[in-house]
Amino acid sequence: MPSVPVQVPTPDAADRTAVRTALLDWYDAHGRTLAWRADPGETRPDPYRVWLSEIMLQQTTTPHATPYFRAFTERWPTVSDLAAADDADVMAAWAGLGYYARARNLLACARAVARDHAGVFPDTEAALLALPGIGAYTAAAIAAIAFGRPANVVDGNVERVMARLFAVETPLPAAKPELKRLAGSLVADDRPGDWAQALMDLGATVCRPGRPLCERCSLTGWCAGFQSGAPERYPLRSPKADRPRRHGLAWVLRDDAGRVALVRRPEKGLLGGMLGLPTSDWSSPTDQAAPPAPVEWRDVGAIDHVFTHFALTLEVRTAVGQGDFLWRTPDEARAALPTVFRKALDRALGA
Ligand code: ADE
Repeated sequence: MPSVPVQVPTPDAADRTAVRTALLDWYDAHGRTLAWRADPGETRPDPYRVWLSEIMLQQTTTPHATPYFRAFTERWPTVSDLAAADDADVMAAWAGLGYYARARNLLACARAVARDHAGVFPDTEAALLALPGIGAYTAAAIAAIAFGRPANVVDGNVERVMARLFAVETPLPAAKPELKRLAGSLVADDRPGDWAQALMDLGATVCRPGRPLCERCSLTGWCAGFQSGAPERYPLRSPKADRPRRHGLAWVLRDDAGRVALVRRPEKGLLGGMLGLPTSDWSSPTDQAAPPAPVEWRDVGAIDHVFTHFALTLEVRTAVGQGDFLWRTPDEARAALPTVFRKALDRALGA
């Protein structure tokens, strides 16, 4: 019989208070200075800025999001300004941040706030959740950070911190409800936004994926993972089911100036609306695929990429030629392309 991991009991009131005080003190001293956070002296950040940052951070890391955040807030200082923007301008400003579906939802949300809420973000988790593009995590994050609501803000970082703090033996994804309950046990009315962001910062800088920096952590006195001697073992994960593998071709066509030929992918489907390299259909045999230009192609090897539901091997071919494409310099292409195509491009450029 496989053993069923025992559920961790929620901490008692004294431990909860001690853990909260230790982490909030650490945050006051070591929290990151980020463009969307409240300035010193400001009690709460602008909800528009919190919302915008959270949507961008679903897509990318804080260093990559920061210049986009600054550009957006400079050009569209309020949610009503953004709501009145041209779709094409917002899409262009979003380029390089990833999925255009998010940018479309961003505009739909700004317009819903302008139209249905007189340009003022609603201040409860439930009302935020009803807006386009705002899911459970984002609603909780905005409610806590912008409105001081004691919302339970749980993303992958918070799950990792909880799994270590409480040495949760249940593997992910089955552990999700237990990790959420444990995170919820530490939420309180005092400084909810700082608490959420303290956990995020701890997860990003100290309780990192891979090897955590426990020597810098203010929670080791309460951390069952630390005390186990192997905090990096948490969170446990169920072995992944084998993914099916697909095969395809990717073509890296360059013009005489060294620019790369890109295409806009169809709106619907995988990586919808994003820039890509011309490729074959990944579900048909590659020997029937017609290249995007009638030139001499050179094989430069293959790259592998793992998507949620399948693994992909892309054979990469490169050539010099012309055609009706979106031409980008290699740097522009690298910044705009999703990872799978960036890998293929790098294979061709390094060849
Ligand atoms: N990741 C998502 N939201 C964040 C925030 N407000 N601060 C730091 N990291 C984050």
